[in-house]
Amino acid sequence: MTGTVGPVRSELSEFLAGLSWPRPQSPEFDPEHAPADPVVLFGTWLREAVAAGVPAAHVMTLATVDAAGRPDARVTVLEDVDEHAFWVAASESSPKGKQLGRVPVAALVFHWPQLGRQVRVRGTVRPADAARTEAAFERLSAHARAEALVDRQSRPLHDEAWLSNALGDPTELLELEVPGAASAPAWRLWGVDAGRMEFFQASTSEHHQRLRYSRTEQTWTTELLRP
Ligand SMILES: Cc1cc2nc3c(=O)[nH]c(=O)nc-3n(C[C@H](O)[C@H](O)[C@H](O)COP(=O)(O)O)c2cc1C
Repeated sequence: MTGTVGPVRSELSEFLAGLSWPRPQSPEFDPEHAPADPVVLFGTWLREAVAAGVPAAHVMTLATVDAAGRPDARVTVLEDVDEHAFWVAASESSPKGKQLGRVPVAALVFHWPQLGRQVRVRGTVRPADAARTEAAFERLSAHARAEALVDRQSRPLHDEAWLSNALGDPTELLELEVPGAASAPAWRLWGVDAGRMEFFQASTSEHHQRLRYSRTEQTWTTELLRP
């Protein structure tokens, strides 16, 4: 596919210049009384985002780095979260899976515009063990499991009919490809072990607030950042 670039660009600049930032609800946030564990605060904010009607509040941007040091990012779903790690799913054969495997660091960004909130997470990456991956695979819909089995995510799509056929009957595909198997060979969960987390609260009246947590051996330290 080829295309030309024309005056659309300057029209787009004008359009962009006319956009404004909608006023968020700006709920109360008192960093002085924030929990010692940032995952607890993340859980509170995630629940509040859902309660405030943020659609797909568990969908985030996942940023990775390739072997040449080039950054990459895409939107994906937060599969799980526990004491330290944020868990994402990716096939080892997809660009993101290769990046997570070869350069085991990642950053996540959640944006909940209705509340003027952002959460940033940075950390090192580790693959989940087989049991955790299998349990997560079982929770997927039949269609998602079939997609994981067909694999080849992000390769050029030459034959749409083939793909529709392959995904046409997920049950049949699941039985055919891996009788009794609990997972797709290349599909796995990856844990981002948070080393740093930052909470941003926009304010309509005063200055915005930023609270950063940094992980030390056993605990977390916090500091406020200039907005
Ligand atoms: C709302 C939304 C949710 C998405 N969720 C996922 C997901 O859970 N898993 C996934 O592999 N891709 C998901 N995608 C597609 C990814 O953004 C991306 O296009 C795909 O994973 C290929 O990325 P890669 O080429 O960097 O591996 C989602 C996209 C959107 C817009």
